[in-house]
Amino acid sequence: MTVSREHFGSRLGFVLAAAGSAVGIGNLVGFPVAAAKNGGGAFLLVYALFVAFICLPIMMAELTMGRASQKDPSKAYSALGGRGPIWGFAGIIGVLTPFMIAVFYSVITVWILGYFTAIISGDLVDLADPSYFGSFISSDAVFGYLAAVGVIVFAILAGGVKDGIERAAKLLMPTLFVMLIAMVIYTLTLPNAMAGVSYYLIPDVSKITPSVINGALSQAFFSLSLGMGILITYGSYMDRNTDIKQSAKLVALTDTLVAFSAGLLILPAIFSFDPQINTSELSESSVSLMFSFLPKIFVALQADVGVFWASTIACVFFLLVLVAAITSLVSIVEVPLSAMSERRTMNRKRSIGFMVLLLGAFGAAASMSFGLSDFFSQFVVYSGADKSLFDVIYDIFYDTILPLNGLLVCLFVMYKWKKANFQKALHEGAADRSMSWYDRYMNFALSGFIPLVLAVIFINTVMTKFF
Ligand code: PHE
Repeated sequence: MTVSREHFGSRLGFVLAAAGSAVGIGNLVGFPVAAAKNGGGAFLLVYALFVAFICLPIMMAELTMGRASQKDPSKAYSALGGRGPIWGFAGIIGVLTPFMIAVFYSVITVWILGYFTAIISGDLVDLADPSYFGSFISSDAVFGYLAAVGVIVFAILAGGVKDGIERAAKLLMPTLFVMLIAMVIYTLTLPNAMAGVSYYLIPDVSKITPSVINGALSQAFFSLSLGMGILITYGSYMDRNTDIKQSAKLVALTDTLVAFSAGLLILPAIFSFDPQINTSELSESSVSLMFSFLPKIFVALQADVGVFWASTIACVFFLLVLVAAITSLVSIVEVPLSAMSERRTMNRKRSIGFMVLLLGAFGAAASMSFGLSDFFSQFVVYSGADKSLFDVIYDIFYDTILPLNGLLVCLFVMYKWKKANFQKALHEGAADRSMSWYDRYMNFALSGFIPLVLAVIFINTVMTKFF
């Protein structure tokens, strides 16, 4: 049965909505940490190449699959002729992946909410202490914040304010970007910041190792929301006369610009606050890096503009990051939700309630991975180490499944749905029908080069992560 779908009114509307969903924790937290960890400039270079030559074509393929099928990811494959176990599997992980990503995402959203609340109560200096993060994430305060995040997500989805929130986000996201740039400029004036700028911008190609390559690919997929069904879903809301190619380029560019700026904020800050830092220590970086250096920037700001203004700026900044995280979280939850409601097993409100509770249960378990429960903190052992539930979700869904989903999308559009059908659907709505060099590259790459790169990286990740 065809369910009639709402459509985005314009290309700008689509680009803003898709960029609003794509910009989130991945750009603001994940990217700077990954760049610090994986050799700075070396990572940035590999990342940029992946976005332009691997991810952008996949983004176009996913959007086209969504628009042509008018379906959610669990049904898009079969609607375009993909039957049998492989495409059935692709459909199932197309819905399972966004759910598990939402679990992992909600854990980090909770930390942001916790920091935001702490800033309101005036704890900037405490927050900048490196031990604060560890004790916060292993305290049972996280459950309260998790419940709050659940209520907010439920209220947005069920309360019929989703459109309003999205409209507000369209205003708040540019504000976040402007603030980010202003903070970058401020950080660049701090002593020794330039050492961070060179680490970030000058690639040392000898640092490009297989793990840097794997890290850059997963980060690019995550940040652009690829391989999690989100763009298939967004594509299904796209108008037939919107130019997919142009829109995808704008979304990828915006997303990458935000990630790049977040890196330009944090890496110089690290070198400024810790001038003796040894870059090999950075390879041990984790998310805690972001949560301690960001408050340090605001503490430095206190010396220049006073406690009141520094705290106010910190508050607004964390609030905007929180909004970015919540809008992204809502848009990921929407994928399994729309798959559920198209099957009409429950009415929408009940489906939302069910989904949020399920997310809360998994989110609570994953939140206990940092010491709150021995069971979840040492959930399994593989590749010689104790792994927490959070690690398992991260290793499987972020690092491994995203590229696999990308591979399935390429193989599907090129060999099952067929290149000619894909090309026709992709170009529907494009004002300019001439073939650019990029179109020619894409034609060739999607059917061979990209799947090959993804398959090699997938196999390498599985071998190094799990064996
Ligand atoms: N791309 C988002 C980020 O970088 C995460 C996300 C994934 C958002 C899927 C929506 C859907 O944070």
